[in-house]
Amino acid sequence: MDARFAVLASGTGTNLQALLDHPLIGPSIALVVSDKQGTGALGRARSRGVKSVVLEPGQYRAREDFDRALTTLLEDEAIEYVLLAGYMRILGGHTVRAFRDRILNVHPSLLPAFPGGHAVRDALSSGARTTGATVHIVDEEVDHGPVVLQEAVLVLPEDDEASLHRRIQEVEHRLFPRAALLLAEGRLKVEGRRVHVLGDDEGTSAERPG
Ligand code: GAR
Repeated sequence: MDARFAVLASGTGTNLQALLDHPLIGPSIALVVSDKQGTGALGRARSRGVKSVVLEPGQYRAREDFDRALTTLLEDEAIEYVLLAGYMRILGGHTVRAFRDRILNVHPSLLPAFPGGHAVRDALSSGARTTGATVHIVDEEVDHGPVVLQEAVLVLPEDDEASLHRRIQEVEHRLFPRAALLLAEGRLKVEGRRVHVLGDDEGTSAERPG
């Protein structure tokens, strides 16, 4: 596939791994960016020979300077699509505008339920019986942009945060590469808050079984 992806990650990088392991997406990942040193995601990139860069917000005087540095890095690497795979920062407006409708985020809940950095914990403590995983297009608001793919995960009585998150991540690892492929194939048409999947007979934004 003739596309250039950057993956931004802050953590262990299991979603990055799922993207690297995908036969079409993996070879198209040109850059991994981490916002701190020593993350699992950096190790995964290095062991695949993918270029990785640490860009720490603390090195910049203002948030906006960091935002511009990130945008410049992505543009210098001729990146076309950006995937937020456990990137635990709010992407700045400069980057969002430069890559409008070309940035996807994976989030461990059925948005708009449980946005933010503690989605799994919040779902558990709310007593919800169902939560899930969402892949959405990134806009200027946090965990807000149009939904591309979503799938539900049942909350089991014996679940703790770790067990529920593990099952949600299994779903994320399937949904995220699929959404990235649809994006790079030009098959996502955004109309307001709805995303139509072109070439999908029913043009639905929901994930159908099978
Ligand atoms: C993922 O579950 C992702 O949905 C979540 O962080 C985890 C990263 O795991 N992201 C957010 O909560 C963003 N609000 P990973 O590093 O193993 O891919």
